[in-house]
Amino acid sequence: VTATELTRRLGIELPIVGGAMYPCSNPELVAAVSEAGGIGVVQPMTLTHVYGHELRAGLRLIRGLTRRPIGFNAIVERSSRLYLERMRRWVDVALEEGVTLLVTALGNPDWVVARAHAAGALVFHDVTARRFAQRALDAGVDGLICVNDRAGGHAGDLSAAALFAELADLGVPLVCAGGIGDARDFADALALGYAGVQLGTRLIATPECHAHDDYKQAILRAKAQDIVRTEKLTGVPVAVIDGPWVRAMGTRAGPLARRLLRHRRAKHWVRALYSLRSLFTLPRAARRGLSAGGVFQAGCSVEHIDTIEPVAAIVRRFAASLPDAPP
Ligand SMILES: Cc1cc2nc3c(=O)[nH]c(=O)nc-3n(C[C@H](O)[C@H](O)[C@H](O)COP(=O)(O)O)c2cc1C
Repeated sequence: VTATELTRRLGIELPIVGGAMYPCSNPELVAAVSEAGGIGVVQPMTLTHVYGHELRAGLRLIRGLTRRPIGFNAIVERSSRLYLERMRRWVDVALEEGVTLLVTALGNPDWVVARAHAAGALVFHDVTARRFAQRALDAGVDGLICVNDRAGGHAGDLSAAALFAELADLGVPLVCAGGIGDARDFADALALGYAGVQLGTRLIATPECHAHDDYKQAILRAKAQDIVRTEKLTGVPVAVIDGPWVRAMGTRAGPLARRLLRHRRAKHWVRALYSLRSLFTLPRAARRGLSAGGVFQAGCSVEHIDTIEPVAAIVRRFAASLPDAPP
């Protein structure tokens, strides 16, 4: 019933990807998505920096919780040579530990494709528009994560339907990322023609996610109009829930930073500096809640999220919503 090109190619039961989340993808959450029949994606900075695991040991910990396929997030932006070298080592370790899906973002994924294909793994690249999709396909990726205007994290500008229309003829499986809060959103995305969905925000409001209860409650309370985009975290707009942190910080970078962010080379440095700061502020807020500033990243899917539920229950409900699902 739920077989799509995504499930067939990845050898999973249901077309549901548990998106990588900094700082929310703790090992138990990643494993729970895979164990439920989807595929959980490891965010390596979350595993190492937030949860303190050495990468290989952290991956083995997840492997101890599920033997089913897992994925790995490789952000391949060439902002720093040191960062890129570490990412190359990490991708090798991930493949050695049996990761079968690499979700790449931002830069040119050609080197990830070479390594992944040699190891029999697939690469899906995050895209927000056709020109990025074309570049990723030229680099040899196997599928696209189509990040729409309702997504948590770095959202796109196009609706799920508009993005599908732009990319449908490219001949690779398309995964809808953004705005999937309930079973109907899931069924609607598949009805549009997507081969699967990637969930972010929905998975934070689960017992398996180790985020602070303040964060989960903020997701349950929020409506789509409470989601605002701020440049104050990474230098490019990130979706967060409006609240005391947003009111104190504002959402736009200062005048100097804005000028530098338009500069071809300086923009990488400004983004690196911003990201370095949020490397610390985001996990503090996610783990300690409102008492640590309460900056909570989430997408418009908050609109349809009103209970904290185990991952397996969410996935089961989603699967049962498909038109030809067995009763
Ligand atoms: C808290 C949070 C952190 C995220 N961090 C990352 C990340 O580190 N890497 C990445 O590729 N995507 C990241 N994303 C995007 C998700 O993987 C996913 O594509 C997105 O959340 C889908 O939209 P949704 O939140 O409406 O489900 C993040 C999303 C959220 C909500």
